[in-house]
Amino acid sequence: MAPERTPYIAANWKMNKTIEEAKAFLGAFLPKAPNDRPEVVVCPPFLALKAAVELCAQSRVRVAAQNMHEESAGAFTGEVSAPMLREIGVDGVILGHSERRQHFNENDEALARKVPAALAAGLEPILCVGETEGQRDAGETHSVLSHQVQIDLAEVGSAELDRVVIAYEPVWAIGTGRTATPEQAQDAVLFIRNLVRAREEGVAELIRIVYGGSVNPDNAAELMAQPDIDGALVGGASLEAEDFAAIVAAAA
Ligand code: 13P
Repeated sequence: MAPERTPYIAANWKMNKTIEEAKAFLGAFLPKAPNDRPEVVVCPPFLALKAAVELCAQSRVRVAAQNMHEESAGAFTGEVSAPMLREIGVDGVILGHSERRQHFNENDEALARKVPAALAAGLEPILCVGETEGQRDAGETHSVLSHQVQIDLAEVGSAELDRVVIAYEPVWAIGTGRTATPEQAQDAVLFIRNLVRAREEGVAELIRIVYGGSVNPDNAAELMAQPDIDGALVGGASLEAEDFAAIVAAAA
């Protein structure tokens, strides 16, 4: 973690927590939330977003959604748009999570539209990229990351690039307990930073790139001690207030 970049820790609750459960989590977590670094973001399911925004209003914790449609409005049954999220005070949105790529056919062409749409509406995109186990075994990690980063960010203007947070989430480490080693995570995150450098020299040292995949209170500090890893996107271990608070503390 470089000192010039503010560390960034996000809780991706996925399809977990009712409104009442989200309120109970925040009731326990907010008193432990930092007043300064790191930046902390919680990403509840759509229905719990408004309650989370209201509860976090007096804190520095911000709220992000887990998906959005790239159009502002229209005939897209079941979808939610960026302006709708902004209207209730949501600050960011996870885009391109591997579960959406895998189960809901989210592809890089759609992401190339979603990332700029989020920025245009004033949402901070948390763009997820990462290789599958088969791709890693085949030696394709760098080519997969390169393809995802280049296409997904293709339509983002230079001036806005540093507002994107990139999450390196190797698919084989998600929900498996098989965390990437700090060296593997650092190597991939540095590779991503160099892709940004090739695109926009000045942005490479500003943009936050975090790691996700079986992060827990025991491994968080070592991962975030790597020079290019600016924080974490946490799944399972973000569901318990104590565990998430311990991960946040490891990033301070
Ligand atoms: P786990 O922390 O449960 O492995 O999930 C990681 C993740 O997908 C965060 O977006």
